[in-house]
Amino acid sequence: MTTTAPKGLEGIIAAETEMSFIDGTQGILEYVGIAIDDLARNSTFEETVFLLWNRRLPTQSELDAFTQDIRSRYQLPAGLEERITTLPKTAEPMHMLRTMVSSLAMFDSDPNQNDPDSARDKALNVLACAPAIVAAFDRHRRGLPVVAPDSSLSIAENFLNMLNGEKPTATMAKALDVCLILHADHGLNNSTFSARVVISTMSDVYSALTAAIGSLRGPLHGGANEGVMRMLNEIPTVADADAFITGKLERKEKVMGFGHRVYKAYDPRATYLKTLAKQLAEDTGNQDLYEKSFAIEKVMEDAVAAKGIYPNVDFYSATTYHCIGLQLDLFTPLFAISRLGGWSGHVIEQLSDNRLYRPKADYIGPHDAPYIPIAERG
Ligand code: CMC
Repeated sequence: MTTTAPKGLEGIIAAETEMSFIDGTQGILEYVGIAIDDLARNSTFEETVFLLWNRRLPTQSELDAFTQDIRSRYQLPAGLEERITTLPKTAEPMHMLRTMVSSLAMFDSDPNQNDPDSARDKALNVLACAPAIVAAFDRHRRGLPVVAPDSSLSIAENFLNMLNGEKPTATMAKALDVCLILHADHGLNNSTFSARVVISTMSDVYSALTAAIGSLRGPLHGGANEGVMRMLNEIPTVADADAFITGKLERKEKVMGFGHRVYKAYDPRATYLKTLAKQLAEDTGNQDLYEKSFAIEKVMEDAVAAKGIYPNVDFYSATTYHCIGLQLDLFTPLFAISRLGGWSGHVIEQLSDNRLYRPKADYIGPHDAPYIPIAERG
């Protein structure tokens, strides 16, 4: 008799990690034991990536060296920018990002090295180049010249500078940096699992990260933040939110930005993002967006909170990203830029104690079926 795992592998432990801890009942998320709230308030994305990859906070000189190393890799390899600027302007940024991250392997003279130093080296390349890839494509499709990266800027500042052609305000750069911290890692989520599965074949870092990007774009995963924004755009005014959401629930449709496989309490990232979204909405004159979100949350609270369905990380990210000035279809690429920190850490972790992922399927089809010649098939 076969034992079939629960659908969607719910509750199955398929890896050990020292990177992030989630208590879905209490609504706790920690990176290497540090509460996500502490990191959002005090850390930077660069420091958070160091923490995830090394499982400890850096000293000042280590952080300076790590930051410098990332910045020295901002420039895209010669030839890649030309590829990006010949892509169809109608391409979806997530398809573009997945393809260009895959392309980075071809600009690496030794892409298949998986020893610890090489894996980190390749992961740093992707982490440093991903913002430039997204920004170059966005400029290209808007008919604007590509802005060169600026190695005096942080990842968050540099991304906004390359996107908009001007340095961001300190508030916007900090807001984006916090978003990068909050999205950097999250246990064995679908895209992280995908990355670990691919690297477990001893393939290569680029393939693992490419697979993860493909997974993240799904609307049930990282693509939900774009779904939230589309929903907010569909609701004409705050007063319409109640009827809109009630109608969705009656039709048994999912409300994007709510629910989570692991959290059955308020997602701690959403708590932080809610405050950030409110502040940014006030600062940028987007109060209606925040108020619509808040109205949706109230309806959902009354209707489904008892089932453990609360806002997840994507819900208030949508308002936050909009206020930062991002185009709707750059929301998920931004999530990917951040999660590259987590995916890479998991790839490095998997390589340090690898065994090929190879589960079994429970075959439920027929046996002893006859091979019918094609001329005799009805
Ligand atoms: N709106 C309305 N009902 C919901 C929602 C929602 N967003 N999420 C779950 N439910 C209901 C669902 O209808 C089902 O009800 P019933 O038991 O009456 O049939 C029950 O809750 C369990 O739902 P499920 O889909 O079986 O749960 P899951 O653990 O497989 O799904 C999820 C988790 C995230 C895929 C799901 O909550 C969902 O589709 N949410 C909307 C998409 C979304 O916001 N995704 C981002 C997830 S967080 C960021 C990330 O990890 O990428």
